Amino acid sequence: MPIAFIEQSLQPCNTLGLPARAQVAVLDDEAAVPDLCREQGGSVFILGGGSNVLMCAQPRHRVLRVALRGIRLMRDTADHWIIEAAAGESWHGFVTHCLDQGWPGLENLALIPGTVGAAPVQNIGAYGLELDQRLHSVVAWDLQAGCERTLLPSDCGFAYRDSVFKRDGAGRWLIVRVRFALPKAWVPRLDYPDLRAHPALQGVAPTPRQVYDAVCDIRRRKLPDPAVLGNAGSFFKNPVVDAARADALKRCFADLRVYPQADGRVKLAAGWLIEQAGWKGRRLGPVGMHERQALVLVNHGGAQAADVRALAQAVRQAVRERFGVDLEQEPVVLD
Ligand code: EPU
Repeated sequence: MPIAFIEQSLQPCNTLGLPARAQVAVLDDEAAVPDLCREQGGSVFILGGGSNVLMCAQPRHRVLRVALRGIRLMRDTADHWIIEAAAGESWHGFVTHCLDQGWPGLENLALIPGTVGAAPVQNIGAYGLELDQRLHSVVAWDLQAGCERTLLPSDCGFAYRDSVFKRDGAGRWLIVRVRFALPKAWVPRLDYPDLRAHPALQGVAPTPRQVYDAVCDIRRRKLPDPAVLGNAGSFFKNPVVDAARADALKRCFADLRVYPQADGRVKLAAGWLIEQAGWKGRRLGPVGMHERQALVLVNHGGAQAADVRALAQAVRQAVRERFGVDLEQEPVVLD
């Protein structure tokens, strides 16, 4: 059965809550993918939970909403659980399910909005853990070549908030299943200062559930719930600069937040830069930068894509003028 595209509103399908109308189809059966390749060959925009996307009002792309479901224990090896989840599963639901089944290892990534299939696209990361550290493989259709492939982590070109799935453009890869390798020798990952300092984790050898609860608690306190206040999480990436540049900035701004990287470069906290540039909690029209986390752009109601672009440009310019640092937008654009 060929997949049918029907014009509809995408406003409920993007967590920023922007109005958009497009030709939309829902994929709930992998068997429909070969037909889709023949008919659409790489021209569709793949949409998961819409939590990392900036939608234009009338996108020229057709949109495929991925609603594939299923989670299973694929293999139980001596030292790992290999779990496979379909791309349309809710990410947080999947993390919670794994914990309930006694397969810990993803708890630092709890409460991230979006779907399992979107997780490898931007290599989601939070509280000291990035997805690539727990990934076994990704089963994806190359929509241009018309064939299914299994990509190992080394094939995925993972970097900070980046992967081949993102670099190759939104129409090339259709991720259908993602497999995770969760080590049976569980060790809590408490490197991230906010997590290490959490009151519930003091003086105890924490269980996976306690780490999960602490991560959820930190996120709920800091980050706006998209169901209440439209947002797409961090709107910019944390910029990475060379060490000489970071040293020069540190001499001028003693409080600058710096995170040295393995390659010798230095990551800066974009939220801090934006706050110092005067944009924390500040609005421009119906949008603004969040009052508790300046890196999160929020829709106070009635915003259009143009409002978001205007604010993003104003924030970028303010940070460039004060620090000479360019901010790169994190969400992908559906145009
Ligand atoms: N900071 C400020 N002012 C702000 C926000 C942050 O001074 O308004 C400072 C904080 O005090 C801290 C530093 O900046 O010293 C880092 O802040 P935070 O711990 O909140 O993390 P982040 O670097 O702003 C990143 C991710 C988040 C992720 C958190 C926790 C990116 C782009 N963002 O934010 O991811 O939850 O770390 O690991 O890397 C997302 O991608 O949507 C997202 C929320």
